[in-house]
Amino acid sequence: NRRSRGRPMKQRLLVVANRLPVSAVRRGEDSWYLEVSAGGLVSALLGVKDVDARWIGWAGVNVPDEVGQRALTKALAEKRCIPVFLDEEIAHQYYNGYCNNILWPLFHYLGLPQEDRLATTRSFQSQFDAYKRANNMFADVVNKHYQEGDVVWCHDYHLMFLPKCLKEYNSKMKVGWFLHTPFPSSEIHRTLPSRSELLRSVLAADLVGFHTYDYARHFVSACTRILGLEGTPEGVEDQGKLTRVAAFPIGIDSDRFKRALELPAVKEHVNELTHRFAGRKVMLGVDRLDMIKGIPQKILAFEKFLEENPSWRDKVVLLQIAVPTRTDVPEYQKLTSQVHEIVGRINGRFGTLTAVPIHHLDRSLDFHALCALYAVTDVALVTSLRDGMNLVSYEFVACQGSKKGVLILSEFAGAAQSLGAGALLVNPWNITEVAASIGYALNMSPDEREKRHRHNYAHVTTHTAQDWAETFVSELNDTVVEAQLRTRQ
Ligand code: G6P
Repeated sequence: NRRSRGRPMKQRLLVVANRLPVSAVRRGEDSWYLEVSAGGLVSALLGVKDVDARWIGWAGVNVPDEVGQRALTKALAEKRCIPVFLDEEIAHQYYNGYCNNILWPLFHYLGLPQEDRLATTRSFQSQFDAYKRANNMFADVVNKHYQEGDVVWCHDYHLMFLPKCLKEYNSKMKVGWFLHTPFPSSEIHRTLPSRSELLRSVLAADLVGFHTYDYARHFVSACTRILGLEGTPEGVEDQGKLTRVAAFPIGIDSDRFKRALELPAVKEHVNELTHRFAGRKVMLGVDRLDMIKGIPQKILAFEKFLEENPSWRDKVVLLQIAVPTRTDVPEYQKLTSQVHEIVGRINGRFGTLTAVPIHHLDRSLDFHALCALYAVTDVALVTSLRDGMNLVSYEFVACQGSKKGVLILSEFAGAAQSLGAGALLVNPWNITEVAASIGYALNMSPDEREKRHRHNYAHVTTHTAQDWAETFVSELNDTVVEAQLRTRQ
């Protein structure tokens, strides 16, 4: 039995991620209000069979005093969460600086800081130092809670230095690392001043996972070309030590969406929205307000469509939900103003006294409202310039049981590899092509819509987040057992 090899019943899983699945708001000296985010990743990880999972992550708030830290630690313990406390300066340099101004744009092919972001490059070294210090602080908390036999699963670009810190503490620890963003071509990665140090620390893990085979291949190329190591079909080898590298495409908890759509309140909301937009086709975008999501390009493509198709002008509406994110980083502030400017211009140009073509919301919607919106959508526009996977495309498909709407999907989102046959794939940089796809989607025959939807729905409902998590944890256990067997031979 592959799944249970080397794994006792109810193995403990320590999930280490920058963010806890809980946000904390201080109410008093020793009292905290916690809001649990019931996202797909949380239910996936908590739903892994025979595993007792707990979460370690940055508290997300500055808690300088011990009383506050103790109270928050206690409150989080009830949610199976363990906080890492970072002081304000380190958190700023690590999270806003190295993670979100350097690694995030680089991994999405937006390059290292130039021109006005150049000031940041000058402080590159201090940001990298803060990044390493922050990763060490995560490692200290993991070490404190680690028990023999635990599986430690590190997540994302925030924690690339963590596998090395953990293995230095205990070389027997089972350590996996998974990247939720793309891993770029080695030619992009090699521009990063700390390129080798980061690769080497990731390689300290037993298993390294990516959403797609391409990202895994880029990572292996970076290790062979930049570090001069040997790439094998299994991963990367360094002086007899193999780090397994593989693709583990994530999914969603599709049943959760199905259940939500059956709730009377959600059904009522669906009816309200249907009534509200009667006579118009609904197009939907749901994105974090991030430059990688290609929101300006998407809106410009919609403008081009309206420009070229006057007969559609009062028959279609674009609802764009843009969830504010990383609002302390100047790039994100600029993007917000840019999007507002474009939306205002287009609404001024094509709006009437009673209707506007774009409804733009700078906020998130609660889960049920989002499900209802997905359900009434005719065409979803997921046009990221780059995206690790993009689960909005999956969520839309999961909610389209009756409508069978069309998904327009960027070929640069990881999801293009799994939903490519059902979606209309586009190059989001090509506004003419996206505008033409909007026209094609709005005019698509019911037969073609049904066929395309069936393909995507089958994928989304059979490749779930829980399968993803279970496969990764089981592979990690197997990888460690196989490595032990190899060293004994
Ligand atoms: C991406 C990253 C996640 C991150 C999320 C939200 O999906 O891969 O690790 O949590 O964005 O960004 P934030 O900076 O708000 O955590």
